[in-house]
Amino acid sequence: MLEERRILITGGAGFIGSHLAEALVEHNNIVKIYDNFNPFYFNKEANIKRLKEAKNCTLIKGDILDLNSLKQAIGNDTELIFHIAAQPGVRFSVETPFKTNEINVTGTLNMLVAVQNSNVEKLINASSSSVYGTPQYLPIDEKHPTNPVSPYGASKLAAEKYCKAFYRIYGINVCSLRFFTVYGPRQRPDMAIHIFTQQILKNESPTIFGDGNQTRDFTFVDDTVSGIIASAEAKDTAGEDFNLGKGERCSVNNLISLLIKITGNAVEPNWTKIMKGDVSHTWADITKAKKMLGYDPQTSIETGLEEFVEWYKSTPYDQIPKASP
Ligand code: NAD
Ligand code: UGA
Repeated sequence: MLEERRILITGGAGFIGSHLAEALVEHNNIVKIYDNFNPFYFNKEANIKRLKEAKNCTLIKGDILDLNSLKQAIGNDTELIFHIAAQPGVRFSVETPFKTNEINVTGTLNMLVAVQNSNVEKLINASSSSVYGTPQYLPIDEKHPTNPVSPYGASKLAAEKYCKAFYRIYGINVCSLRFFTVYGPRQRPDMAIHIFTQQILKNESPTIFGDGNQTRDFTFVDDTVSGIIASAEAKDTAGEDFNLGKGERCSVNNLISLLIKITGNAVEPNWTKIMKGDVSHTWADITKAKKMLGYDPQTSIETGLEEFVEWYKSTPYDQIPKASP
C-alpha cells in the first residue's frame, strides 16, 4: 500500500476518485483532490464529506482544461498523479460528443503537458473497457483490437494514445487502466445499477435497453481501487495498458433478477430499444493485471449488489447522487 506519498487525484470528488482518495488518505498519504464539480450530476459534495474532515487531504476546485491551474496544483512536490477526471457515460457521449472529446482528450493532453517538466514520478490514466468496441472474442485481453463504437470510447482511446506518445517522446512514466463497468456506494446516477435500484425500490418497472442479454463485467469499486493503487506501486508499467475488471460477466436480465431478489420487490421490467453506442458484451481477461500488478478482485456480484442496495437504502435522500435535470 502507498504510504506518505504526495498525490494529486483529478476527479477526486467523483464516484471512483472519491473512493480512491479515501483509501489513500487512510494510509497517511498527502492527497490533493483536483475537481471542477462539473454539473453532469449533483451532490458530489456528499462524495467528499469524509475527506473534507481529513487533515492530510486538500481540495482544489480546478478544471483540467486550465493548464496553468493544473501546473500550479502539481507544483514541485507532487510525486504521483491519478488522472481520474473525465466526462464519463457512453450514452451521454452520443448526445454530446464535443464535450466528451474536450474533457477526455484535451483534458488528458493538458495533464501530460503539465507533468512534462514536473517532478512527478508516475501518472496513472483512467481508461475504459469502451476502447475495445464490439468484442471479437471473449474474454477480452489487452491485445484485443480497439475499435470503439461510441464517442466516449473513441475519446478514451485517443487519451490512451496521447499517454503512449508522451511516454515515447518524453519518457513520461504513464500507464492506462481500463475499468470495466464499476459499481458500489456512490455510483453515478446515470449508470444501470443505480437507476435499476432506484426504480425497483420505488416498485417501478426498470427499463432495459435491448433484450437484456447484453453482458457486463460489473466490477466492485473497492476492487477497482485496489487495482489502481497496485498499478502505482508496480514496476515496469510505463506505456502499458491493464484491464481492471472482475473477470466475470452478468447479463442485464440477470442483474435485474439479482436486484429483485435482494430488495424483495418483484417488479416486471420493460424492454425497449437498444441504445446507440452500447456494446453487446464486456468481459475482462485480467491475467496481465494479476501477473504484473498483483491485482486480485474479491467481490462477487451478489455481495457487491447487496452492499450497493444497503448503501442506497441507508443514505439520506439529499446525499444520494442525483442526475442533472
Ligand atoms: P464521475 O463523473 O463520478 O467522476 C469524474 C469526476 O471528474 C467528477 O467528479 C467530475 O466533477 C470531474 N471532472 C469532470 N470534468 C472535469 C474537468 N474539466 N476538470 C476537473 N474535474 C472534472 O465518474 P466515475 O464513474 O467516477 O469515472 C471516473 C473515471 O473512470 C473516468 O475517467 C471514467 O471515464 C472512467 N471509467 C469509469 C467507469 C465506471 O464504470 N464508472 C468505467 C470505465 C472507466
Ligand atoms: C459504463 C460507464 O458508464 C462508462 O463510463 C464506462 O466507461 C463503461 O462502463 C466501461 O466499462 O468502460 P455501461 O456499461 O454502459 O458504461 O454502464 P451501465 O450504465 O452500467 O450500463 C450497463 C448496461 O445496462 C448497458 O448495456 C446499458 O444499455 C444497460 N442499461 C442501462 C439499461 O438497460 N437500462 C438503463 O436504464 C441503463
